Amino acid sequence: MRRHETASAAHGWQRDGILFGCDYNPEQWPVSVWHDDVALMVQAGVDIVAINIFGWASIEPRPGEYDFDSLDAIIALLHENGIRVNLGTGTSSPPPWLSTRHPEILPVMADGTRRWPGGRQAWCPSSPVFREHALRLASVVAERYGSHPAVALWHVSNELGCHNALCYCDVSAASFRRWLEARYDSITRLNDAWGTTFWSQHYSDWSEILPPRSTLSAGNPAQRLDFERFSSEELLGYYREELAVIRAASTAPVTTNFMVTAHIRTQDYWRWAPEVDLIANDHYVDYRLDRPEVELSFSADLTRGLAHGEPWMLMETATSAVSWQPHNIAKVPGELVRTVASHLARGADGICFFQWRASRQGAEKFHSALLPHAGTDSKIWRETLGLSAMLDRLAPVSGTRVDARVAIMFSWESRWSASHETHPSEDVSYLTEAHRAYSALRSAGVTVDFVPPGADLAGYSLVIVPTLYCVNDSDARGLSDYVAGGGHAVVTFFSGLADDELRLRMDATGATPPGAFAELLGAWTEEFFPLGQGGTASLTDGATGSIWTEIVRVTTATVMTEFADGQVAGHPAITSNAFGDGRAIYVATALDDDSYETLVASALAEAGVTGHTLGADVEVVTRSNGTDRFVFVINHSASDVSLAGTGTELTTGESIDGIVAVPAGAVRVLRESIR
Ligand code: GAL
Repeated sequence: MRRHETASAAHGWQRDGILFGCDYNPEQWPVSVWHDDVALMVQAGVDIVAINIFGWASIEPRPGEYDFDSLDAIIALLHENGIRVNLGTGTSSPPPWLSTRHPEILPVMADGTRRWPGGRQAWCPSSPVFREHALRLASVVAERYGSHPAVALWHVSNELGCHNALCYCDVSAASFRRWLEARYDSITRLNDAWGTTFWSQHYSDWSEILPPRSTLSAGNPAQRLDFERFSSEELLGYYREELAVIRAASTAPVTTNFMVTAHIRTQDYWRWAPEVDLIANDHYVDYRLDRPEVELSFSADLTRGLAHGEPWMLMETATSAVSWQPHNIAKVPGELVRTVASHLARGADGICFFQWRASRQGAEKFHSALLPHAGTDSKIWRETLGLSAMLDRLAPVSGTRVDARVAIMFSWESRWSASHETHPSEDVSYLTEAHRAYSALRSAGVTVDFVPPGADLAGYSLVIVPTLYCVNDSDARGLSDYVAGGGHAVVTFFSGLADDELRLRMDATGATPPGAFAELLGAWTEEFFPLGQGGTASLTDGATGSIWTEIVRVTTATVMTEFADGQVAGHPAITSNAFGDGRAIYVATALDDDSYETLVASALAEAGVTGHTLGADVEVVTRSNGTDRFVFVINHSASDVSLAGTGTELTTGESIDGIVAVPAGAVRVLRESIR
């Protein structure tokens, strides 16, 4: 995509266009292959290549002994060919010499068993020995290449927390204690926060505290949540240390690749987001889901939320099959373009792939790549070229923004704690409820922003709050103030029950039932009646609930729908409360998809938001700037659809005066003038 380069790009990584890139692992191939590779990269219009992601063993083959010949050569080759480098610090997986000399860096599981080298990321996030070696490597790499003109971006480690976030070793335990001391200051405060009067868990000294290692019975939930918080902060702290080392040697922007939805559950990315110069996400289509394309768009919108609406980069995705699902489904023709378009429509300004050339050896040898094992006479290579050409044609989209008037409040702390053990139902899944809300909004043709609890909600007409199990006082007040000021909210079951120390939200005397949102909702819960496995409940309006029912007691709310059967028959299932100038709806069950869509449609109508839909399997998403609007239509369905408009269709270059036809399976992007 080099045609659109401008010298005035706002950030080092950006160009005046959509960036096209990939991971490249030249250490897996002889030098002769590198030349073929780079020639083909040029042919494919590759702009940026991530290298040295797993380079540690190659560049430091023995302790303190460096060999940069290959890395120098590949950076020079890429640079000569106009390809920029997203340079890995190389620290993601330590070489065997390090874990052999220092087995204490290996991570330990909750049951005390160690994890061994032979895979990747086998290091304890708290290990000072690992940090010393990794930071030394990062600093040598940063000094060597810090002002190299090819380096457009720094890539710290890789997917921090993908495998090793939770380590329960003694070193981690000591670090956890230090973190707790800083958080609570006194052991009395910690005892209070963790509720240690329960089961004789009172601590008299910091040294008695352990990470939540495997126990005979259920553990302490507050201890677990603090360990989850600590484990996120510990890796973030590690990232900051690498960042400082790079900053000392380079002015190029620095990032690391997140995985905001699937594999990395342990990192609170709201806390990470301000620390990276560019939000970068890795996303792979999950074929285990009924509608993987909905999860993809959820992930892309959440990534944009982390980026505060700024352009972000898809740092990794696959051209076709991955190698780590039970069945590694290949992409059908057209699917690659649709998935990429969905990320673009939702704010990505860069699309990168894992990886350039499919590996011949190792655990990922059956993973797809831009250049497949079959070579250039292949479906995948033709799609690589086609995709690159499409990204070129979409260059005018770069830098534009996605506007949304509806938000989902998303919380990693509730994601972790809602699924703790000893809750009323093990079927309550935070992510599932967030997806359910998202899916209903997406079906209504509404673009969704994601915001953290406590965010400024002023710009939104409707906010959905799925299963926000724990919430602190000020964030709870923020939602109430938003509604009082004229906002609309939908809150779903198992929300607002606990404070941020997982104490149920009732006063100390037990006189008030739990619930941060009782006043806002004009309703409170007398008793939970979770459904048994696979159980359902009928509602009086014909809807079906699953997972959850409860006895709701209304104070000021009106009842919209009641449960029609089961143990809670006759009790409210959905309530609506006028609160200040706004309205808050409460949903006391997991509604079936159609009914959720109906509920969301009426909430949207009341909030004055109109969606743009061309059918359930068609995404319509708009990016815009002050002068132009870019309407993406991504047709996942088997039927042709059409969109009214006037302007230029960017994927074909066709001029449009009236109607854009979007054939089944196709993507079209209409550029319209706003003025
Ligand atoms: C990512 C990782 C890559 C590669 C890819 C395969 O998690 O960052 O190195 O393993 O998955 O899908």
